[in-house]
Amino acid sequence: MIDLTAGEICSELAPTIRDGAIDAINNGVNRYTDTVGMVELREALARKISLDTGRIWKAEEVAVTSGAKQALFNAAMVLLNPGDEVIIPAPYWTTFPAQVLLAGGTPIFVDSRSNGYVPRIEHIKGAITERTRAIVVNTPSNPTGTVYDFQTLMAIAQIAINRNLWIIFDECYGDFVHRGHTHHPIVSVAPEIRTRALIVNSFSKSLALTGWRIGYLAGPKEVINAVKALQSHTTSNPNVIAQHAVLAHLQRGGSDYESKLRSRLTSARRVGLDVLSSLTRVPVARAQGGFYFYLDLSHLLRPASEDGASTTADDIVTGLLAEAGVAAVSGTAFGDPVGLRLSYGIPPEKLATGLARLVEFLNAWK
Ligand SMILES: Cc1ncc(COP(=O)(O)O)c(C=O)c1O
Repeated sequence: MIDLTAGEICSELAPTIRDGAIDAINNGVNRYTDTVGMVELREALARKISLDTGRIWKAEEVAVTSGAKQALFNAAMVLLNPGDEVIIPAPYWTTFPAQVLLAGGTPIFVDSRSNGYVPRIEHIKGAITERTRAIVVNTPSNPTGTVYDFQTLMAIAQIAINRNLWIIFDECYGDFVHRGHTHHPIVSVAPEIRTRALIVNSFSKSLALTGWRIGYLAGPKEVINAVKALQSHTTSNPNVIAQHAVLAHLQRGGSDYESKLRSRLTSARRVGLDVLSSLTRVPVARAQGGFYFYLDLSHLLRPASEDGASTTADDIVTGLLAEAGVAAVSGTAFGDPVGLRLSYGIPPEKLATGLARLVEFLNAWK
């Protein structure tokens, strides 16, 4: 079986991370840290975010979390009151609406499929009510791999500023943007949004470090203080050895590991797009960023109205696994029953074989 479902990159451990963790263990590190992370790590992250955004950030504006997932959870918990609405472009990463619901809020979806998976500005405006509290912006997007351009981000920021909304800006895939596209942090695009934006990021994707659980939330000090109060009653600090490892990586500088990861993904993407170009009835994925190919299967599926026997991407996923031995994620998980997500973070030798089998299966699908 070839597994194209993983939301992570199969890679060796970064040497700086390994050494940083080993040094921490050899130094007998074993105690709680500050609830939202060691101050040295928060300072190092503030320097990183300052470089990323071209604006000055301070440690007190950063909370270290157990992965970006906890950063998003914290954001939902501190921003939302029961009944508050959060606008989420669809297709979306499954956790966005789940966490809004956990916090007592209501997800409001804006379908982006007719516009190359970028939500239309008038659709976002049309979804706003007096209960709207925030808009989720995830660029590059999981699952679609779409990278929002400068104008789109500017327009979304303007809406948030004019309507007094928060932006939850998830840039976990910001390091992986392919030729012809640029990742723009929203606070660089519209500096005025700074008081209404929460940046969510982690090292899970950029350092292939999913299991180590280090992410962060950056935003106004008052929000970070609220997050600290919340986190003190949920997880307390993120794992201390992982914090030391990431700190060592940030302090030792250099980006050889990241560059290697990026070029590996660039070549995997090239190989993948080449194989996928043989699809006969499915538009080839755009794959602007991240490490996913996202396919629109609508030409292969029977809509519900035709004869009552509709098909969705779930049927294709089931058949694909049973008949071709390839696992992929159905778009139903992302609010899009005609989509299919394929990860190209898997070992390169398996990727071409898996995609070739998928192409054969989809081309023969009736
Ligand atoms: C868009 C997006 N945000 C956040 C996360 C969570 O990342 P982490 O593993 O750092 O919690 C993921 C993981 O797949 C993701 O795809």
